Amino acid sequence: MTFAQDLPSSRVRGYSNASRQTNSTSQHANTVARVNGHTTGAHTNNLHKLYKAPHLVDGFGTKAIHVGSEPNPVTGAVIPPISLSTTYAQDGVGNHKGYEYSRSGNPNRNAFEKTIAALEGGGSDAIAFASGVATIAIAIQSLGPGAHVISVNDVYGGTFRYITRVASMTQGVEATFLDLGDISAGSEGEHNLIQALRPNTKLIWLESPTNPTLRVIDIARLSQLLDQQFPPHSPNASLRPLILVDNTFASPFFSSPLLLGADIVLHSLTKYVNGHSDVVMGALILPARHAAITERLRFLQNASGAVPSAYDCWLAQRGAKTLHVRMKQHGVNALRIARALQQEPDVEEVLYPGLSKDRSATAWKNLSPHARKWIETEKLLGDDGAFPFSGMISFQLRKPSPNASYDEHAALSSQFLKNLRLFTLAESLGGVESLAEAPARMTHAGIPAHKREILGIGEGLIRLSIGIEDADDLLDDLRDGLQSVYN
Ligand SMILES: Cc1ncc(COP(=O)(O)O)c(C=O)c1O
Repeated sequence: MTFAQDLPSSRVRGYSNASRQTNSTSQHANTVARVNGHTTGAHTNNLHKLYKAPHLVDGFGTKAIHVGSEPNPVTGAVIPPISLSTTYAQDGVGNHKGYEYSRSGNPNRNAFEKTIAALEGGGSDAIAFASGVATIAIAIQSLGPGAHVISVNDVYGGTFRYITRVASMTQGVEATFLDLGDISAGSEGEHNLIQALRPNTKLIWLESPTNPTLRVIDIARLSQLLDQQFPPHSPNASLRPLILVDNTFASPFFSSPLLLGADIVLHSLTKYVNGHSDVVMGALILPARHAAITERLRFLQNASGAVPSAYDCWLAQRGAKTLHVRMKQHGVNALRIARALQQEPDVEEVLYPGLSKDRSATAWKNLSPHARKWIETEKLLGDDGAFPFSGMISFQLRKPSPNASYDEHAALSSQFLKNLRLFTLAESLGGVESLAEAPARMTHAGIPAHKREILGIGEGLIRLSIGIEDADDLLDDLRDGLQSVYN
């Protein structure tokens, strides 16, 4: 399928040229000012000194603050202005400054896309959408008709819904949902995956950690397994399905799937990347080797129109600037709370990817180079083998009595959630404030009960999004909550 061939000439001149010119003029800022994706048309003579190109080897935090956010060469503004204009003046027909119409490209979206592409390890290009779900929809649409998708079984409910109730109808997409928790050589998971592959399998959809049971998938192993099944340079190579990883729960700080062999990374930016619970947005990030797929997805971004507003892009860029600082605190708080919950007699099981259990070996493999460096430099790897890995924890509340009914267990967990003082009872995750919820009756209520049971989503399961408040206060809040329902 060659979506790129369908690109209108104005679009080729518009968006694509805009991003290319942004880069080149940034490097020659005394010609035409076009920094942050903002075309000013003015000459910069003196102010060009303000802009110094970010260095390729800059660290995560440096990139978060500087890439896509260079000072405006005309006004000197350190923070990019919000560009609300929906349309852009042309000097003559087809002679514009890189922007024609805001759906096809606007300075804030271009600037944010540069930032997030730089933050996702191994990323070269990013394409932003109006929500995480719109991003999921476009990723599936890009497969064309009649594709088969293999997906991890405890995938985000909106992904499951789109694949099984929309794409199945509109594109004839078929899907196989598998437990991919163990795909090591010789395992049942490996066997099931190989059996599930079909000639029309175009995509393997991963989420890592999964939601809400926080299982970490061995991305590098999956990539290796596909290399074995579809050896590069063999006649089969072109049949190799793409690996897409929804990296929302780990964020670009804790995991870099593209460096482990994934082809596409997806984020609901609504969560950690924006981080302040005030923007709904999503993005796909691709490596340079997938330029053709990137172009196809860009075409769909414009053609479907599911684009984020300039204001949301500006907010998300502001949020991304502190991603590294927030993620470190989310991780340190979450590890401390996960360890403390393990000691509570009324808590039966604590699920946290960095805890010292089988899963922590895979979580360690999946750590991004920058997160690993931080953990090693700060000596955050415990003697028990535990380490910070993002800010999500799930745990099982003990039944009120061994023979308690489903309803009694549900009532106890509802009461526990209601009694918390600092944890807000709410869906979503990734904001600076701590949230708590009961997946079985909230985020995962749409999954049939028997499937929830297979996935381990029982009545007593509580999911926490650990914020960046003082960990002592959060712990006290959880302990008080436990005491209030078990005494
Ligand atoms: C893992 C994951 N991916 C995607 C989404 C969808 O994102 P949005 O709510 O921004 O549409 C969510 C939402 O909760 C999610 O948890």
